[in-house]
Amino acid sequence: MRYFIITYGCQMNISDSERISGAMKRSGLKPAKSLEESDLAVINMCSVRRSASDRILGSLPKFKGKTTVLTGCILPKERRRFSKFFDYVLDIKELGEWPFSSFKEKDYFRIEPEYSSKFSACIPIMTGCNNFCSYCAVPYTRGREISRPKKEIIKEAKTLVEKGFKEIWLLGQNVNSYKYEFSDLLRKINTIPGKFWIRFTSSHPKDFSEDLIKTMKECSKITPYLNLPVQSGDSNVLKRMNRPYTIKKYKEIVKKIRKEIPEISISTDVIVGFCGETKKEFENTKKLFKEIKYDMAYINKYSERPGTESAEKMKDDISKKEKSRREKELNEILKETALKNNKKYEGKTIEVLISEFRKGFLYGKSKNYKTVRIEGSEEMVGSFRQVKIKRALSWGLEGILK
Ligand code: SAM
Ligand code: SF4
Ligand code: F3S
Repeated sequence: MRYFIITYGCQMNISDSERISGAMKRSGLKPAKSLEESDLAVINMCSVRRSASDRILGSLPKFKGKTTVLTGCILPKERRRFSKFFDYVLDIKELGEWPFSSFKEKDYFRIEPEYSSKFSACIPIMTGCNNFCSYCAVPYTRGREISRPKKEIIKEAKTLVEKGFKEIWLLGQNVNSYKYEFSDLLRKINTIPGKFWIRFTSSHPKDFSEDLIKTMKECSKITPYLNLPVQSGDSNVLKRMNRPYTIKKYKEIVKKIRKEIPEISISTDVIVGFCGETKKEFENTKKLFKEIKYDMAYINKYSERPGTESAEKMKDDISKKEKSRREKELNEILKETALKNNKKYEGKTIEVLISEFRKGFLYGKSKNYKTVRIEGSEEMVGSFRQVKIKRALSWGLEGILK
């Protein structure tokens, strides 16, 4: 049997797919180069927005004649509807006991992944979420928070560094609520000998401690980049979203981080058009964007997800058109602040981890997670390079090799 995995959603799902691939290979299955060439199609699904579920139903004809598995983040309320169309609907946490498995492993995190890159790897440190933001599918699809033992994570990180990986992402829906002290975990990974960068995502403002800021400042391998989802710039909307902080508190955290780590780049996640979001409430989000001057933002139009609190108790009353308008307005502000932030790199030489060669250009990320485009050749992919920045754009930087 030849398998092909289709992955939707966030880095967490991409990482899970690497474990699925690891389990399949260990069971003697072979990877197919394309869906067409496969006998077994595994769809690792995301439920965070309705569009993701719709897309899967739309692609059903492509799976004709194949054995199909649906896994990943599936909403309990949609499970029945989906199960009609797939041969198997399987829980990712039971990966070590799937019907195709030739071995038994109760803890799916212990299954060795088949990494998709040779220099950048993700290590899930926790999964699930206890926060129940009123709009969010994750607590229903992934269940409650489970943190992996520190020892296992450190062992995985050590092995990766020994294999020559240059970048390690620590992943979780809420990494800083890692049960066995996130700061301590970071400090221990930071002591692994070798040249590599440590990144992590996502962080919840409610758990962002002074200790974590200190750790980021003191550990040289932790990169000065932070994704700190705000979701809305209005404290009343945050209350309706069940996000337990105010905008005042959020701004205080950002101020503290910037004081300790002045070179930090900050990105955010935000939802526009949440239930009942008034023009004034949205104006507050615009105000926040202008004040914080984000480097990057993932702007999402609110999408009602069955079974969540906002779907059950609130009204999705902002029109599609208005949501798109609000998204565009935030994008305009973001473009300006990002460009301004990027301008300060012009003329400077920075380190870049080259990740890709496309259409005659090298692409990579700087320590601050800025996309950098460089003239160069393919063999440089996977290496650190010094790059002189010639031009700043909203989406990133352009430079030449030193
Ligand atoms: N745990 C992270 C946090 O607390 O910010 C976020 C994880 S969530 C999987 C990724 C992003 O999807 C969220 O930050 C949010 O902006 C967006 N999102 C979640 N539910 C959504 C919904 N119902 N409609 C639109 N965007 C949504
Ligand atoms: Fe979803 Fe909120 Fe949990 Fe993030 S913290 S995964 S937005 S419920
Ligand atoms: Fe990620 Fe989507 Fe699940 S964003 S955690 S794959 S619902």
